[in-house]
Amino acid sequence: MELKDLQRHWDEFSRKDAMYAINTRPGKENGQWDRCAFYQTGEREILRVQRYLGNKGYSLGGQKALDFGCGIGRLSVALGPHFDEVIGVDISPSMIAQARVEHNSKSNLSFVLNEVDNLAVFEEASFDFIYSNITLQHMAPKYAKRYIHEFVRLLKPDGICLFQLPSRSRLDRENKSLFQKVSKFLGIPPSLHRRILLLSNRLKWSILRRPIMEMYGIPSQEVIACIESCGGKVLHVKENRHAGQYWESFYYLIGKAVI
Ligand SMILES: C[S@@+](CC[C@H](N)C(=O)[O-])C[C@H]1O[C@@H](n2cnc3c(N)ncnc32)[C@H](O)[C@@H]1O
Repeated sequence: MELKDLQRHWDEFSRKDAMYAINTRPGKENGQWDRCAFYQTGEREILRVQRYLGNKGYSLGGQKALDFGCGIGRLSVALGPHFDEVIGVDISPSMIAQARVEHNSKSNLSFVLNEVDNLAVFEEASFDFIYSNITLQHMAPKYAKRYIHEFVRLLKPDGICLFQLPSRSRLDRENKSLFQKVSKFLGIPPSLHRRILLLSNRLKWSILRRPIMEMYGIPSQEVIACIESCGGKVLHVKENRHAGQYWESFYYLIGKAVI
């Protein structure tokens, strides 16, 4: 999906039910998320990030943090107490509009709409911490890689960035989904499963006008090569379950390589 389409789909999700689009927990669809419970998931996530960074010898704090793909600010607001300033950036005008209303009482939070495949809106070497969760997984790898280059550019020399990205679908090797069982029964080869899923999603949009949440993975070796190709340094890689049971997913903790 090209960036303009990605924006259209996310904006549609946001206008329908932003909290469920962000955190698709079963039973929370159609406006069922309790506001407090929704933001508590963000607080717990940032607490886990703080512990993880501590274990690796880093601290969560400083002057300026960026939350890439901020949605309505679930994680930006949880980062707030740790930084002088937190900026959330998102491609969806509706997400950004809701984030501004939701958090207008927090003077150190601001939200920026960015509709392009770079982060030129921000100055080089200006962030102590950059965080991105369950965002890069929803865009074609060519875009995810461009934003990873931008993360490295935006980091201060001693800044750190933690982002999440799936590496590959587990559907290829685990016979778990109904879709896969049916495909096996019909004799459809596993190599075609992903293409069929993408095609059926696109039909859902063109016929039913239902927005699509595409999922992509990039093999870890490719992600590491991408980080290193633009002057970044991999500090640690940790597996997580953020992309759901059908995807192998990792956190990449990165900094700037010393020249
Ligand atoms: C699943 S939501 C996650 C929101 C937030 N990271 C959280 O965990 O609460 C994904 C978000 O990424 C945003 N997004 C998708 N593509 C983007 C892009 N190219 N640039 C910035 N934001 C993007 C969507 O609009 C959406 O708000």
